Amino acid sequence: MEATTYNYKVVRQFAIMTIVWGIVGMLVGVILSAQLIWPTLTEALGPLAPYLSYGRIRPLHTNAVIFAFGGSGLFAASLYVVQRTSQARLISDGLAAFVFWGWQAVIVLAAITLPLGITSSKEYAELEWPIDLLITAVWVAYAVLFFGTIVKRKTKHIYVANWFFGAYIITIALLHVVNSAELPVTLTKSYSAYAGVQDAMVQWWYGHNAVGFFLTTAFLGMMYYFVPKQAGRPIYSYRLSIVHFWSLNFIYMWAGPHHLMYTALPDWAQSLGMVFSLMLIAPSWGGMMNGIMTLSGAWHKLRTDPILKFLITSLSFYGMSTFEGPMMSVKTVNALSHYTEWTIGHVHSGALGWVAMITIGSMYYLIPRLFGREAMYSVKAINAHFWIATIGVVLYIASMWIAGVAQGLMWRATNPDGTLTYSFAQSVAAMYPFYYIRLLGGLMFFSGMLIMAWNVWKTVAVGRAVDDARIPAAVAA
Ligand code: HEM
Ligand code: HEM
Repeated sequence: MEATTYNYKVVRQFAIMTIVWGIVGMLVGVILSAQLIWPTLTEALGPLAPYLSYGRIRPLHTNAVIFAFGGSGLFAASLYVVQRTSQARLISDGLAAFVFWGWQAVIVLAAITLPLGITSSKEYAELEWPIDLLITAVWVAYAVLFFGTIVKRKTKHIYVANWFFGAYIITIALLHVVNSAELPVTLTKSYSAYAGVQDAMVQWWYGHNAVGFFLTTAFLGMMYYFVPKQAGRPIYSYRLSIVHFWSLNFIYMWAGPHHLMYTALPDWAQSLGMVFSLMLIAPSWGGMMNGIMTLSGAWHKLRTDPILKFLITSLSFYGMSTFEGPMMSVKTVNALSHYTEWTIGHVHSGALGWVAMITIGSMYYLIPRLFGREAMYSVKAINAHFWIATIGVVLYIASMWIAGVAQGLMWRATNPDGTLTYSFAQSVAAMYPFYYIRLLGGLMFFSGMLIMAWNVWKTVAVGRAVDDARIPAAVAA
């Protein structure tokens, strides 16, 4: 019987950890939002205070939400999808277990070292060299597991979702190895192999493609499986999926310099980054349209199906943030938006609106199937989660847009005699109302995750772990 079943164990483990790390990472986000209003908030903790200071827990938040929450969601989704669409079990259970426990070890090490102030100080690549090596080992194992399963597939073609997952696995390996090149000095300290503006260029080539491949291409893989499945419709256009796959991968690679406008980076490189960022609208919207149009003929399902609501709303946020990003890459717009809350608004329209919502929708699809249930324990709770999360994102990003534009305009305002109209402290004071609204939005999104955790708990409690035996032995053999 073993050969006819899939390895759902690793999918289950990652799916549950997605929710756990989502709650942890977002709680840290809520604490950060509160610290920006009350900077001395964590000082009451006495000797513990330095470990929870803003500078230390900010990278804890980004690592927890991107790599622990998003990463676990992607491992769960990709390892499920590759088995289902290849009609083949993962090539090795041992390797699958290594990927799960190895990745959890990376997360725990991040949660220990970052509050201790151990950091390489490269954004989204803060972890020190021994952890970088562990990441590399886990990633290679993941690549072998994923591509090995593709090789032994029983279907003729490779389903489009796997193309997206495959591109993400290869690119993240390349980005991680190149950007993490460093000279170790002690066990907890290293220096980058690059210096000056080259270091910045490599860092943002990495940083932007971390957005492009970790937070976008991989989640498009998720979209290409779970949207058609939940809608009960085939993908709108396979041709479009191929065209936007290749153009997205090609164009993303060049857009990194938009993070370094008006810096020591040569001007031509900045302009190149801007032009490629503008071109990125086309493949990004190709993906969004392909996802949304998959609903053709099934629009009515949106009224009653909260999982589909999560999936389709996430695509709308994806479209919105990939319209906004290219606009922010235009040098004159970036002159206003850079260093302001506008960037934070943009980040979270992508991160909460797109990444978190598509992950949540996909986990609601997966969990009952992994635990032998027809559906989640409470559909009403999914609906409540959807509304609380959507209103939360809107409050978060709208407040940050207004705050960011106000901040940028205040910084550049001058009097007729050339002096600044506002002091920096005045621009900080002007942020308070928006910080309160962001905190409220963040708290709402976070509460939605707690509702989800309760619903998952109830579903799992009455369910049982299954390793799908629905493929007849004759087909699977
Ligand atoms: C309850 C949900 C969340 C809250 C309240 C929250 C809050 C915050 C806060 C306060 C910051 C620091 C902003 C600053 O320094 O001005 C931040 C940064 C960031 N967050 Fe979140 N966050 C949440 C969820 C997420 C999720 C789910 C992701 C990713 C999937 C994410 C990705 C990021 C990133 C990448 C940054 C750094 C942005 C930059 O450096 O420009 N956040 N978040
Ligand atoms: C066509 C697609 C996109 C383009 C051209 C784009 C462009 C930009 C630009 C110009 C910035 C501001 C850089 C600065 O002034 O420092 C930025 C920041 C950022 N974007 Fe996007 N964006 C796109 C899509 C997305 C999506 C979908 C996400 C998330 C899922 C995202 C996440 C981020 C993050 C995390 C940052 C902050 C980086 C940092 O400074 O730490 N972007 N993006």
